[in-house]
Amino acid sequence: MAVLITGGAGFIGSHTCVELLEAGREIVVLDNFSNSKPEALKRIQQITGKDFKFYEADLLDRCGIERVFQQNEIDSVIHFAGLKAVGESCHIPLQYYHNNLTGTLLLCQVMEKHKCKKIVFSSSATVYGMHNTAPFREDMPLSATNPYGQTKLMIEQILTDLYRADPEWSVALLRYFNPIGAHKSGLLGEDPNGIPNNLLPYISQVATGKLKELAVFGDDYDTPDGTGVRDYIHVVDLAQGHLAALDYITGNTGVEAINLGTGKGYSVLDVLHAFEEACGKKLPHHIAPRRPGDIATCYADPSKAKQLLNWEAKRTLADMCADGWNFSKNNPNGL
Ligand code: NAD
Ligand code: UD1
Repeated sequence: MAVLITGGAGFIGSHTCVELLEAGREIVVLDNFSNSKPEALKRIQQITGKDFKFYEADLLDRCGIERVFQQNEIDSVIHFAGLKAVGESCHIPLQYYHNNLTGTLLLCQVMEKHKCKKIVFSSSATVYGMHNTAPFREDMPLSATNPYGQTKLMIEQILTDLYRADPEWSVALLRYFNPIGAHKSGLLGEDPNGIPNNLLPYISQVATGKLKELAVFGDDYDTPDGTGVRDYIHVVDLAQGHLAALDYITGNTGVEAINLGTGKGYSVLDVLHAFEEACGKKLPHHIAPRRPGDIATCYADPSKAKQLLNWEAKRTLADMCADGWNFSKNNPNGL
């Protein structure tokens, strides 16, 4: 019996593949490399010394998904595959809705046909919207302010409806906070295309000299130092959370939304200073206007994950920056 990992060549997927292989699980990976490279798969093998089956396939191609289920005994799925850039989703919404929603619908249809009814889905803290106050709890009202966030909300709803119609389904909706860092080996990490939108990849590229200076988006928020506060979580902690979620859905039917965060908030300046410590140099930055759509403070109440999954994040901000820097310095041009 194998676990299908959609989007397994991507940032979080590749780290999760490593954790699953190291825990002795059999995995099958599907990816279309729209936002990743085959090199990630080689690195997974290099780290673990283990082999696994890979399909270069698109979730929009039902036959491609069918092939995976016909040729393997898949008993559960971890579904990472999706487009994830907030700004881009506002410019090309149809592509985002089509890729994320249609891809998930086709995947679930094929799963249903093959009586595979266990799925862990990559949701996001973005579903808490603009109007809740941190710490965010799973039972708070949800909303979205952009097409990317809408796809996460809609897929949460689709999977919830699937369970309501057929209680044999077992669904974990994992709401990630801000995944950063890299594998300790320095072989796997985040490898964004073009100029990064997110804070950590941007800071890393300032540190490697690829970018000139960091723009800090706003220093007039109602936070301790005026800059935005987020719940940064080490990608390896996050990956281990998937293993715990997989074990949970194997033993329980139902649908559960679960935050994967640390419960601690750090400001943009905290992160910048922690990264400066890690790379041993001062990094140029200036204060810029707020980025539209940003909230002041976002961090998790992580207690449900602890209670249900017996999982909690262990790694510190210093670990995240040290491992992130180790990857960037060893791979200045990405994978
Ligand atoms: P990523 O882009 O690195 O990985 C996604 C992978 O899915 C890529 O390898 C891409 O090639 C693949 N993919 C996309 N569409 C596909 C399709 N139609 N068919 C097959 N493969 C396809 O992203 P990530 O950071 O690893 O994120 C994984 C998931 O977690 C995404 O669903 C994302 O929305 C969600 N998420 C990420 C973050 C974050 O900060 N990274 C935060 C919250 C939620
Ligand atoms: C962003 C997305 C969110 C998504 C998440 C993970 C937006 C509005 N939100 O979250 O939906 O789930 O990424 O992919 O895009 N910052 C700077 N300078 C920069 C970059 C960021 O100051 O160059 C600040 C931001 O204002 C924010 C913090 O750093 O306060 C973190 O930003 P980022 O890494 O983009 O993550 P989020 O905004 O939390």
